[in-house]
Amino acid sequence: MKRGKYKASTKPQKGAAKNEYLPRAVEITKIRDLSSDVKHYTLKFKDGKPFEYKPGQFVQVSIFGVGEAPISITSTHERGDDLEIAIRRVGSLTNAIHTLKEGDELFIRGPYGNSFPWEAGKGKDILFIAGGIGLLPLRSVMNAVFHHRKDYGKIWILYGAKSPQECVYADELARWGKLDNVEVLQTVDSPTAEWKGGVGVVTTLFEKIEFDPEKTISYLCGPPIMIKFTNITLEEKKMQPDNIITTMEMHMKCGIGKCGHCLVGHKYCCTDGPVFTFAELKALGAEE
Ligand SMILES: Cc1cc2nc3c(=O)[nH]c(=O)nc-3n(C[C@H](O)[C@H](O)[C@H](O)COP(=O)(O)OP(=O)(O)OC[C@H]3O[C@@H](n4cnc5c(N)ncnc54)[C@H](O)[C@@H]3O)c2cc1C
Ligand code: FES
Repeated sequence: MKRGKYKASTKPQKGAAKNEYLPRAVEITKIRDLSSDVKHYTLKFKDGKPFEYKPGQFVQVSIFGVGEAPISITSTHERGDDLEIAIRRVGSLTNAIHTLKEGDELFIRGPYGNSFPWEAGKGKDILFIAGGIGLLPLRSVMNAVFHHRKDYGKIWILYGAKSPQECVYADELARWGKLDNVEVLQTVDSPTAEWKGGVGVVTTLFEKIEFDPEKTISYLCGPPIMIKFTNITLEEKKMQPDNIITTMEMHMKCGIGKCGHCLVGHKYCCTDGPVFTFAELKALGAEE
């Protein structure tokens, strides 16, 4: 065979399976700072073909030559929102994304994972509990519930962060708190002189609310230590583990159930999750 006669083709072979790892280009149309190390991004598909997604799903976000990471979708398709994500600067990819400007390009594939069973909570009271950037994935289900406000009873939002500067979506929390039959309670570990909320861990906010465990569904997300103590408090208050719903952040690679990086017991976090009930986590031995 003569050298150079054959060239690698970049075109998919006829009948070849679609490459599931191929990301799509999106343009960053808007960036806003949520806190000192978290930015919110509004994205538009460059091919003009948006996808449908559900509250709780995530996308794999990448920059060529830098890396790829799972990131929750924080917008709500139900409301016709543009695709929105929010990213905390922690490592190589997220630091690189934080240097991008409006008009720059990112790559995403997805949406992946299951979703919050928010429609099953219709007719119930809803208790949202978030710690730190745990509010990012919960915002998608919060806005789905607010979009169908008349289908739900009382809504509480309990939010804890390390300091007032690290509270994300402060403007939206203030707006939600003004809605009828919605109570927003916030706490921080280290307050400033101007801080008007509580001081202490998020579970201290339970002293300020009364809910009926029989008619309430709880959605929570935050660091593992917060999830652990919040679950203990919810169980003490007689909440059924089936009605406590959380989203897990495991280390992931493929995001599509192929590599085994994200095992939770015998389940894949990327395809069986990331949303699990506390009852499921207990059965998987992963409640802590
Ligand atoms: C379903 C899901 C949703 C998520 N949603 C969001 C979101 O909405 N916003 C957001 O900001 N983040 C989110 N994350 C977390 C985000 O994917 C990680 O922080 C990601 O690692 C950042 O990539 P990076 O390259 O910037 O940082 P990395 O270079 O990956 O480093 C991040 C940190 O993780 C450690 N680390 C990385 N890989 C491993 C490993 N295999 N084992 C142990 N430690 C490791 C590093 O030492 C470092 O401390 C989500 C994660 C999951 C699973
Ligand atoms: S990330 Fe590969 S199996 Fe879940």
